[in-house]
Amino acid sequence: MFPRHLLMAYPNGYRIESALNPHMRDAEGRLKVVDFAKALKEWEALRALYTSLGLNVHVIEAKPEWPDMVFCANQTFPFLDSAEKPAVVLSHMRSDTRKGEVPLFEKWARESGLRVHELKSSEGFEGSGDAIWDFDSMRVIGGYGFRTDQGVYAELASLIKCEVIPVELHDERFYHLDTCFLTLGKSRAAYVQEAFTPDGLSALKNAFQTLIRIPLNEAIDHFAGNAFCPDGENVVLQKGASQFVASLREAGLCVHEVETREYIKAGGSVFCMKQQLWMRA
Ligand code: ARG
Repeated sequence: MFPRHLLMAYPNGYRIESALNPHMRDAEGRLKVVDFAKALKEWEALRALYTSLGLNVHVIEAKPEWPDMVFCANQTFPFLDSAEKPAVVLSHMRSDTRKGEVPLFEKWARESGLRVHELKSSEGFEGSGDAIWDFDSMRVIGGYGFRTDQGVYAELASLIKCEVIPVELHDERFYHLDTCFLTLGKSRAAYVQEAFTPDGLSALKNAFQTLIRIPLNEAIDHFAGNAFCPDGENVVLQKGASQFVASLREAGLCVHEVETREYIKAGGSVFCMKQQLWMRA
C-alpha cells in the first residue's frame, strides 16, 4: 500500500536564519551558511532520482518568507479517510518561523483535491516529521518529545482509524522521529538506538520483526536516520553512511546515495525533503 505520489517544495529562499535545532550552528555557535546554488543542484538531482524510480513528483513553490519550507514532510500528515479518499491532517508547527508554511500546504492540498482535516487539540504536531507510516501494516509510529506532543496521537489514531504507536525521543539532535527512524516494508525498520527512551525502544522492538541499527556516528555525520524507503525495495540516503548502507544491502534493499549536504546544515535530509502521499486517481 505504498503511495506512489511525492510532494517536494522548490527551495525558493531556502536559508538558515535562526537555529531551530542543534544542527543549524557550527562548533563555534555560529549559524551555518547555505550555498544556494549547491542546494538547488542537490534538490534537482533528488527530484530526478524519484522520477526515475517511477514515483509521481508534484512540486509546490516555497515562499521566501519561510526559510525552512523546503522541508515539506512537516506541515501535513497524509492518510486515506473513511471513504478511502486521500486526505491530510494539518500540523501545528512549534516555531513561529515555520507556522506560516502550513496554510500554503493547505491551499495546495485543497487545490489538488485532497480532503483537509484539523486536529481539535492545540498541542504540537509536525506531520510526517514525527508521525511515520508503516505502509505494509498501515500503522503509524508516532515520535514525541521535542516538536510533537504525545497527547495528539490518541486524536490522530481515531481520525485516521489506524493504530498509532507512540515512541518517546530524548536526544535533541534527533528532534524529529524521521531523524532516527524509517520503515522499510515487510515488518522491517531502521533506527538509531541512542535517540529513544527505553520505553520507546521496547515499543519499536515489539512493533517490527527486523530492526536494523543505524550507527550513531553515521546518523550524526551523514543524517543516515533520515533515509527514505518509498516502496519496500529502494532506499535513498545521503552519501557516506557505509555501515548502514552495507546493512541495507544485506537486507536485499537497493541503495541510492545522494548529496543533501546543504540541507543537513539545517537539520534535514532526504526524508524531510518530500511528503509521500495519496492523490485522487
Ligand atoms: N530546520 C528545520 C527545522 O528544524 C528542519 C526540518 C527538517 N525536517 C524533518 N522532518 N526532520 O524545523
